Amino acid sequence: MRIDIITIFPEMFKSILNESILKRAQEKKKVVIRLHNLRDYTTDKHKKVDDRPFGGGPGMVMTPQPFFDALKKIKGKRKAKVILMCPSGKTFTQKYAKNLAKNKNLIILCGHYEGIDERVREKLVDESVSIGDYVLTGGELPALVVVDCLTRLIPGVLGKEISLKDESFENGLLEYPQYTRPANFRGIKVPNVLLSGNHRDIEEWRKQESMKKTKKYRPDLLKK
Ligand code: ADE
Repeated sequence: MRIDIITIFPEMFKSILNESILKRAQEKKKVVIRLHNLRDYTTDKHKKVDDRPFGGGPGMVMTPQPFFDALKKIKGKRKAKVILMCPSGKTFTQKYAKNLAKNKNLIILCGHYEGIDERVREKLVDESVSIGDYVLTGGELPALVVVDCLTRLIPGVLGKEISLKDESFENGLLEYPQYTRPANFRGIKVPNVLLSGNHRDIEEWRKQESMKKTKKYRPDLLKK
């Protein structure tokens, strides 16, 4: 998978992309992530990428020109899905992530200020994506959330010891509680069934705990 990110703050990405699983996935060439500074594509002599909104109102709007020119150069003749990070987009979920992960080429545009000139969304963007019903200062953190989530879905990125199958949201439920050594930590004991060695009992216990946890913390998931 190749992911191109168009942003006015490329530095915001570097520390996160250069640690842990995201770093290893790039080293193993499972994913190629390229950062592009939107300002490099503006024709404005002061490197401006925003302007006042037509019709008045507070804040600034990102101008279309740098996005059109950046995308023309970065996308070229490749087939790529273009997504725009913005709070009014479709909500990002595990299911949505799995669908996006099917694309070999993804281009992420990071919005800012009061928004982006609507012609960018109309002519360049395939899907607008929100990571939740709250407003952040820009699309950079949301883009990192999407990149992180997609990268771990790429086959070979997670070690085989880590299973995607049992984790939260995979079956519409939250994951069951996990424990590790010691079995008795300062008097707080691990449930006996997990020490029993009886795999059928353990599976049953996990199913029940998964259901209990979902009922308690995310009853909305059960309704779905
Ligand atoms: N930009 C600002 N807030 C956002 C959100 N919640 N999701 C995606 N992009 C955003």
